[in-house]
Amino acid sequence: MWAPDSWRQKSALQQPDYADPAEVERVLADLHTLPPLVTSWEILRLRDQLAEAADGRQFVLQAGDCAERFVDCTPVRITNTLKVLLQMSLVLVIGARPVIRIGRFAGQYAKPRSANLETRDAVSLPSYRGDNINRPEFTAEARRPDPQLLLRGYERASVTLNFVRALVKGGFADLHHPEYFDLDWVKDSPLADEYHRMVQTIKDSLQFVENVLGVRAGDTDKIDFFTAHEALHLGYEAVQTRRVPRRPGYFNLLTHFPWVGLRTNDSEGAHIEYVRGIENPVGIKVGAGCTREQVARWLEILDPDRRPGRLTFIHRFGAGKIADSLPPLIEHVRAEGGKPVWICDPMHGNTHSLANGIKTRNFEDIYSEVEQSFDIHAEQKQQLGGVHVELTGENVTECVGGSRGPGEADLARAYESEVDPRLNYEQSMELAFLIARKMKSGAH
Ligand code: PEP
Ligand code: CO
Repeated sequence: MWAPDSWRQKSALQQPDYADPAEVERVLADLHTLPPLVTSWEILRLRDQLAEAADGRQFVLQAGDCAERFVDCTPVRITNTLKVLLQMSLVLVIGARPVIRIGRFAGQYAKPRSANLETRDAVSLPSYRGDNINRPEFTAEARRPDPQLLLRGYERASVTLNFVRALVKGGFADLHHPEYFDLDWVKDSPLADEYHRMVQTIKDSLQFVENVLGVRAGDTDKIDFFTAHEALHLGYEAVQTRRVPRRPGYFNLLTHFPWVGLRTNDSEGAHIEYVRGIENPVGIKVGAGCTREQVARWLEILDPDRRPGRLTFIHRFGAGKIADSLPPLIEHVRAEGGKPVWICDPMHGNTHSLANGIKTRNFEDIYSEVEQSFDIHAEQKQQLGGVHVELTGENVTECVGGSRGPGEADLARAYESEVDPRLNYEQSMELAFLIARKMKSGAH
């Protein structure tokens, strides 16, 4: 029997090791009394839209920070994130599909880590696991998992979402005018002429705006920004998992679209048990080497009725591996009668460290994985349903490449991410242009 806390019967990986479990329970009890962050009708609207993405009639742009930081919960940062998402979605619509915008925000505060401990100069401390759990500074005090941070995270998720909703309602979407795009970088691209033509298309055609927003121009306060985060800290996720009046089932009311990460996607583990019972659409990250049995178990557990929009596979192989890894995965899913949304995460299979220890990703690898995804899905007579990207609206230097992007020697200049390297504003826009061009060029 499923219940919001039935996951406790299973093995839960990647959970913080709190010194005082009673304090955690007190915090969770407190959180349980608060109003939720999202509503069941928003969640069901997203599920309906994802059903269309599974059919190739909409395209998902899921994007934002790898790890949101509490210090970045500022008006400027939030506005810039919305701006880049909105502008990318406008560019993407040239690919001729309406775009579903899902932010990795308002709750992306818990991170899975490969190692429990981090060692520097012979000192080992617990790894940083996201601002909901502990703090990044390398001191014993900062790295101690602190349950109170869950309350701080909930409050920040709430003020973030409040500001997002206010901006959207207040006509922020007027930023859809390409005059607001910062396109200086375009002149450094060999595709500059083509990009300018694409921008002109957006300018000339109100229809595009209406398509992308899914509403009539002038009615832009109705555009949707959905939220997503990794459902990692299960005590936290379960605390706002509720029944609502007049609708069957339980909803995770912390976010519209929770996903299960690669490290916790074991079909017999606690994370899959938790998402099994909620009505939200759910994502599952998949990497190389999935067997037919694994795929069958995920489908049987998470989507026994094959409900449209319920399940999304977010594949993340790496540009060098996708050609071998994606086709068998598609075949297994098909053989089991699954019809998920297929989203390409071109970030997490393409991370590497430089000799000085800095983690980075190459823009070229990132686009290559997306491009190969389009082609492989098309060869299999289906469609890539979206992309999942780590990015920021700021001018950071974390990933290398792109028309005017940083080289390896520039990375130290504005490297902020505590976890994974993100595309900056220009690299994100360039990726959107390349994707739109790709979608337009073929039967994608
Ligand atoms: C992430 O999305 O930040 C992440 C950790 O991804 P994955 O689970 O695919 O490694
Ligand atoms: Co990441």
